[in-house]
Amino acid sequence: MAVLNVNIDHVATVRQARLTNEPDPVWAAAECELAGANGITVHLRQDRRHICDRDVRLLRETVACKLNLEMCMAEPIVKIAEKIRPDQITLVPERRQELTTEGGLECAKNKKRLAEVVKRMHKKGILVSTFIRPDKEQIKASAETGCDAVELHTGKYANARAQRTIERCLNELAFGRDFAAENKLVVHAGHGLTYRNIADVAKIKGLCEFNIGHSIIARSIFVGIRQAAAEMIELINRYSTD
Ligand code: PXP
Repeated sequence: MAVLNVNIDHVATVRQARLTNEPDPVWAAAECELAGANGITVHLRQDRRHICDRDVRLLRETVACKLNLEMCMAEPIVKIAEKIRPDQITLVPERRQELTTEGGLECAKNKKRLAEVVKRMHKKGILVSTFIRPDKEQIKASAETGCDAVELHTGKYANARAQRTIERCLNELAFGRDFAAENKLVVHAGHGLTYRNIADVAKIKGLCEFNIGHSIIARSIFVGIRQAAAEMIELINRYSTD
């Protein structure tokens, strides 16, 4: 059965809009746990545009379910991960100008650095996942560098409008799932998933963890975050069949 990690970055985005102390992502994490979330995901960006160091520190102390830290491989961020010791890190590319994480990580081109980061994380007991396009090269590089999991980028699927394109994207994700499993990697998925498009992805057997943020936080403005998270969990449970 697939599970949900709620990405709570955008709770911090609202706080940072006024540089004040509310809403607190720590409260949001507790609400998501009470809704039954498997994990809490936060992206500590180099520009600290939403999640800050203080959030990650407090979340490490308060989150009882899985804490998944999204991060790039820049040395100061890697050092923070070693100190905080989240349960899992998800390595992402990061560009300062982007609105959100755009492409997948170029694992094949950065194998040396990736292998080094994986080794350092494993020393601290931290699982490593890479956020990648569902293609062979990136999956192979993730496996060869010792990663535990890959998160398949669902952004292209989420943006697709024509039925043919949607189906092609779903096939690519299923291919990625197969190739990752053959390479002994656990398979996660995320980016751009919403209450409207989750069903077809949840139906892909073997995707075991979804990272979903914006859509849940957007709904939470109207229904509260505990209910918004519970509604997404209900959809994932309904459509993921293994
Ligand atoms: N997975 C990864 C690796 C991401 O970078 C993000 C965005 O922070 C998400 C999942 C969540 O994407 P969304 O906010 O579109 O649900």
